[in-house]
Amino acid sequence: MEEVEKAKEKFGQLLEEQLERIDRLKKEGDWINYSHLKPLKIGFIGGDGIGPFISEHARKVLSFLLKEELESGTIEFKVIEGLTIENRAKQGKAIPPDVLDEIKACHVLLKGPTTTPRKGDKWPNIESANVALRRELDLFANVRPIKIPEKNIDWIFFRENTEGAYILGSKGINVTDDLAVDFKVITTQGAERIIRLAFEHAKKNNLDKITIITKANVIKTTDGKFLSIAEKVAKEYPEIEWDDWYIDIMTAKLIDSARQRDFKVLVAPNLYGDIITDEAAQLQGGVGTAGSANIGKRYAMFEAIHGSAPRMVEEGRAKYADPSSLLRASVMLLNHVGYVEKARKLEMALDICGIYERKREITGRDNGATGEQFINYLMETMQDPNLLTTWNQYQLNT
Ligand code: IPM
Ligand code: MG
Repeated sequence: MEEVEKAKEKFGQLLEEQLERIDRLKKEGDWINYSHLKPLKIGFIGGDGIGPFISEHARKVLSFLLKEELESGTIEFKVIEGLTIENRAKQGKAIPPDVLDEIKACHVLLKGPTTTPRKGDKWPNIESANVALRRELDLFANVRPIKIPEKNIDWIFFRENTEGAYILGSKGINVTDDLAVDFKVITTQGAERIIRLAFEHAKKNNLDKITIITKANVIKTTDGKFLSIAEKVAKEYPEIEWDDWYIDIMTAKLIDSARQRDFKVLVAPNLYGDIITDEAAQLQGGVGTAGSANIGKRYAMFEAIHGSAPRMVEEGRAKYADPSSLLRASVMLLNHVGYVEKARKLEMALDICGIYERKREITGRDNGATGEQFINYLMETMQDPNLLTTWNQYQLNT
């Protein structure tokens, strides 16, 4: 059949592309060392909807924290325009090439939410900017921490970010009008680097337990590979205990109060990681409360996991948008580039202003604080010489 031949040809191309990718992965360089860079360039990508508003707030807070470094030229900020749905739709590209060049001229990025077109809406069905950026910058690890102190929950998810069900997500094949096929890809190199990163994290932070999430009982080839690579890597870390769960029962155990606190470091292929981290974020208080890091050996990008909330902009409420998620992402950014003290300060202030003291509550509407008022409160809190004592007291009382 002609359709089958055409589909085979497309499939053949996809396989060749993947084998070439594996060759590149095999030659992959070492991790970048941020401490040698002068200047370290931090890019701010506003994105869509409320993105530019909360991004601006995060930039102000980081300018405040990094005042000296900015003045001495150790750090440089760049505001990157143009990663908007309008511009992307006009150019018919997930990331317009000139914008990608600007992005690649930075070392680390703080990114606001970007609209992901879907079938049936007013935008051309171009690929998600997130997915494209993760691929273009090879940000293979999506690291998402979740903390719920009152339940003794302290999880960190390592979601594989560049392959799995996503890598060919926009390259599925409609073989005939009736037959649609998508693909899922797991490579030895791709699985190994995310699993190893999770084990290394556990080792460095004295965490003695890793949980691998798959559906290897059904998706036998790709998930089976992921699991067997985990088994192999785990042998190198005999001091760390590991177990594996299937994604379905994992979603249940995550809300099982008898079990949930036992999980520590969790590793999953792309799609399962996407789903389970939304569930985890909801338990913490909603997707707006969670930060997310996309880490590669050369670049790293930090973002909120919520969407662009276009309705808030349409209704004139963008100034009431909560910048907390991007600020939590900023904590991860500062930690990642080695500014651990400043990260700590911002994190404590966020806990005090957003969780404990809550003097300027953000509601997303005019009955609450604006983002500007919130960050002013946050910066005042950071200047308080008793910050650590105050934070410790709140911790003891919960
Ligand atoms: C996320 C988001 C993205 C994803 C979307 C926007 C493409 O849900 O970062 O978790 O599925 O990865
Ligand atoms: Mg998601």
